[in-house]
Amino acid sequence: MELDKLRVNGRRLQASLEAMAEIGATPGGGVHRLALSDEDKGARDLFVSWLAGMDLEIVVDEMGNIFGERPGDKVLPPVMTGSHIDSQPKGGRFDGILGVMGGLEVLRTLSENDIETKRPVVVVNWTNEEGSRFSPPMVGSGVWSGELDINWVFDRTDINGKKLGEELERIGYKGSAAARSRPVHAYYEYHVEQGPVLECEGKIIGVPKGIFSIHWSDVYLDGTANQVGPTPMEGRNDALCSAAEMILKVNKLPSKMGDNMVATVGEIQNYPNSRNVIPDHVHFTVDIRSWDDDLVSRAWDDLRNDFKVIASRRGCDIRLEETWKVNHMPFDERLVNGVLKTADQLGYSNHFMVSGAGHDASYMAMTAPTAMIFVPSIGGRSHVEVENTTWEDCEAGANVLLHAVLKSAMEG
Ligand code: GLV
Ligand code: MN
Ligand code: MN
Repeated sequence: MELDKLRVNGRRLQASLEAMAEIGATPGGGVHRLALSDEDKGARDLFVSWLAGMDLEIVVDEMGNIFGERPGDKVLPPVMTGSHIDSQPKGGRFDGILGVMGGLEVLRTLSENDIETKRPVVVVNWTNEEGSRFSPPMVGSGVWSGELDINWVFDRTDINGKKLGEELERIGYKGSAAARSRPVHAYYEYHVEQGPVLECEGKIIGVPKGIFSIHWSDVYLDGTANQVGPTPMEGRNDALCSAAEMILKVNKLPSKMGDNMVATVGEIQNYPNSRNVIPDHVHFTVDIRSWDDDLVSRAWDDLRNDFKVIASRRGCDIRLEETWKVNHMPFDERLVNGVLKTADQLGYSNHFMVSGAGHDASYMAMTAPTAMIFVPSIGGRSHVEVENTTWEDCEAGANVLLHAVLKSAMEG
């Protein structure tokens, strides 16, 4: 078969995504498949059973990253593609899993057409991309690329005190292979856009120039608990009121700092969380993002000062923790241009953009030439149950992935 006529099987891709969407399905049409939960295990098992049915070499490393490798006709560094199986709490049916199922569909297409590539092609599922149950995110690719220490990662705990390393063992995915990078010729990650740009532009394929810098921090406040009735308003050390003021500072940070910054408080715990007790302990998270690493650092310094002033005025103790940071990550120009050209050749409208969402591609770009392929998110919605992308667009993106992978895999 002429290689440029090759196309993925869109209906088979849809069926894979629909089968995965049943694992951890929520009543609102999304999935709840937190990292290293029973649902994550169920989806991993299904993925591995599909890999096993294709006669690939399957490797699970000590971080639980799963690799399925289709050999090339030469021993050369492979082309790799993939994403993640885990989801946000009550998340969507496409975030992450589209890239894993898209990669699988590429391998299935190559195999059923007896295509021999020069280089091996590997599909990968990275452990805990979301960072929602265990912070920080992207730890599978972070350890693999040498940027994060595996023992530190194993010690991360969830809200119930369960350790990441122990949960990895519990679900049976602590493999024996070292979680260590190997030379990779090209890494492609296929993902839903998770924002409104492609829909607004009326384009099918998005090609990001890279990913924003992301800065995560945790704020812990201690005040004084007391009966809400007899305690006068004056002189209270209300930890939740301190947090409320701080949260609005976070919300106003982008307009204060300018440029393309976004800043969010997404998670909060309030104690003792009773309507008739003044809160004495609050924990909340801060997420700051921008293309400009320096601006992110300055924004965090500015915020930290504001937080200290607020805490002191309200008589609360404050502890700040910088949990995680990744610098902005430009992708490989040759691969990015290659993806744009591939989209053109296949007749799909396309758009050069930037990714505000974090992806394993950030860490992969530190070890290998990397590029991403986006398809539109309906209404720009993601990390929610109504997250959606048309099957047609899923197929289009997978065709771009197929030809980008093929081109790289045929390079000597
Ligand atoms: C990853 O899902 C992110 O937080 O962007
Ligand atoms: Mn994702
Ligand atoms: Mn996500």
